[in-house]
Amino acid sequence: MLITIDDVLTAEELVAMQDMLARSRWAHGGITAGTQSAQVKNNQQLVEDAEHLPILRRTVLAALNRNALFFTAVLPRRIFPPLFNRYGGETNSFGNHVDNAMRPLPDGSGYLRTDVSATLFLAEPDAYDGGELVIEDTYGTQAVKPRAGSMVIYPSTSVHQVTPVTRGQRLACFMWMQSMVRDSGQRRLLYEMDMALLQLRQQHGDTDPVIRLTGTYHNLLRSWAEI
Ligand code: NI
Repeated sequence: MLITIDDVLTAEELVAMQDMLARSRWAHGGITAGTQSAQVKNNQQLVEDAEHLPILRRTVLAALNRNALFFTAVLPRRIFPPLFNRYGGETNSFGNHVDNAMRPLPDGSGYLRTDVSATLFLAEPDAYDGGELVIEDTYGTQAVKPRAGSMVIYPSTSVHQVTPVTRGQRLACFMWMQSMVRDSGQRRLLYEMDMALLQLRQQHGDTDPVIRLTGTYHNLLRSWAEI
């Protein structure tokens, strides 16, 4: 299931982040790639000791924290510290790959299992040609290129790629999440149920059946979640 969440960042946050990224030090994206993905990864990535990285990460995590749709779609247990990438010029693409299942956490506390991958777009789509995120979902292949400030989330089990950027620069933040619900099918059921309940509540208020269905949602989450 691929979900686009619009307006994750405010306009002010977006401008401030674009400005910091323009003044930051970048390295080849191979620095965090697994063995297979290193062969097809040709982009740039913000270096781990970049001056602005802590504030960039805090801004993204604070934005995710206040976003109810992100919470219900991901049911995040742990979020890998967000990373930033840039595509353009000679370093302009990332061929088909699957994200590594386990990522060692930078603080040495163990591993994060990647259940959900996310890309937060930081450049407007008309600022570059190409650069679509192409994801092979159970329902077919989807290509996305949303507005700056929008985030695309998809199961980390999907084969995906970023098509070559042939003009301009594609800036993005990307990250992996371990979900409280490991199975993507169960996450999808919970997401769809929660979204339907939201609509029911708006249309009919907290009627007795709505209260009971809400209880069923929470009881399913209680039995499927690992924390
Ligand atoms: Ni990837």
